[in-house]
Amino acid sequence: MIFFIDTANLNEIKEAYNLGILDGVTTNPTLMAKEGITGSNNILKHYVDICNIVDGYVSAEVNATDYKGMIAEAEILSELHQNIVVKIPMTADGIKAIKYLSNKEIKTNCTLIFSAGQALLAAKAGATFVSPFVGRLDDIQADGLQLIAQIRLIFDNYGFETQILAASIRTPMHIIQCAEIGADVVTVPLSVILGLIKHPLTDKGLEQFTADYNKGNKQ
Ligand code: E4P
Repeated sequence: MIFFIDTANLNEIKEAYNLGILDGVTTNPTLMAKEGITGSNNILKHYVDICNIVDGYVSAEVNATDYKGMIAEAEILSELHQNIVVKIPMTADGIKAIKYLSNKEIKTNCTLIFSAGQALLAAKAGATFVSPFVGRLDDIQADGLQLIAQIRLIFDNYGFETQILAASIRTPMHIIQCAEIGADVVTVPLSVILGLIKHPLTDKGLEQFTADYNKGNKQ
């Protein structure tokens, strides 16, 4: 299973990378703004800074919503670094842009996927990744994980090579359930990645082992 971190915070990216389990990064305009990164030049520079930390795919999102604007931005983004994957929103113009970029062998991540039909069209257009938003569906009392399972079935039925990138992951259990379903990738905030490590019985057991080791050393 491929692990991406879902942040534009360089320290968090370094921390996850230093754990040795990080395969890439996803960002979006909201995550960039959260880090105070605004203005196109600063944003482009920040993508390069991220690529210089992580040896893996880095999703960089277009801000244009029309076909021509998306293509123009995608070409600039893809030339920043070989690991850039251009994030394109799920719209009719987005689908056309994904098809165009796929023909040019530019990698794409179709974002804001909330239905199986959207994922199917993005895969048909040649997207490298589709990003279904698990948490945001759960937020409106729909079933985000059910969508991951539906897309897995459809992609397997037809042998689509498009990878399912489970996004909007909120809890360690989301990660485990995505792994059970067979999502190819999860993109996760650092706190949720670290949440996978924690277990009260691990803490208790370690405390006991340390205490017993220290007893032996005192004899
Ligand atoms: C990543 O590609 C998505 O933009 C991100 O996972 C969305 O997460 P959120 O729903 O927590 O904002």
